[in-house]
Amino acid sequence: MAHLFIGEVLTHGGTAVDATAGNGYDTLFLTRQVGPAGRVYAFDVQEQALLKTRKLLEEHSLAWQVTLFQAGHEEMDRLVCGPVDAVLYNLGYLPGASHELITQPETTIASLRAAIGLLSRGGRIGLVGYPGHPGGEAECNAVIQFASCLDHALYSVIKISMVNRAGNAPVVILIEEGSR
Ligand SMILES: C[S@@+](CC[C@H](N)C(=O)[O-])C[C@H]1O[C@@H](n2cnc3c(N)ncnc32)[C@H](O)[C@@H]1O
Repeated sequence: MAHLFIGEVLTHGGTAVDATAGNGYDTLFLTRQVGPAGRVYAFDVQEQALLKTRKLLEEHSLAWQVTLFQAGHEEMDRLVCGPVDAVLYNLGYLPGASHELITQPETTIASLRAAIGLLSRGGRIGLVGYPGHPGGEAECNAVIQFASCLDHALYSVIKISMVNRAGNAPVVILIEEGSR
């Protein structure tokens, strides 16, 4: 859902940020969307995540289009020159690595503030949160609380949840600059 939402506005020549690079699958998606004339910035605090992301991009001969930052996404506004058309978040822990190192509510919210400041007119943020792991529910609640308070005259916000699954199923938050 987050890919579909972002894919509608992120076209060739665009600029995007992967706020949580992880194993690189989202970075690869964003890089394919923007094409050779576009640019992607990807953040992760873990070196092993960035190594995996670089390897995946190299396998697709796309690494040259991406700037990788071993830094917290809360530093986005210091490291990325806006405007950006899309920002993608996939919260939680790096699959296959320690479950101890997870995204945190304070830095995720700081990053979302920065991302909103960087968004182009009509730009979009897609976020997937996971309430099912320790710390995940508090983080999802913080994100929903933050997104609920965005001015509806300036931003459209959608929350998607799975109604036929337990309460700890993944949650998708979609934010668009511009009201409908
Ligand atoms: C669920 S994984 C991301 C999966 C990834 N998008 C993919 O396609 O494979 C979450 C990632 O967020 C990273 N992370 C944790 N805190 C972070 C922060 N403050 N800034 C950026 N990344 C962070 C973790 O290291 C982990 O790799």
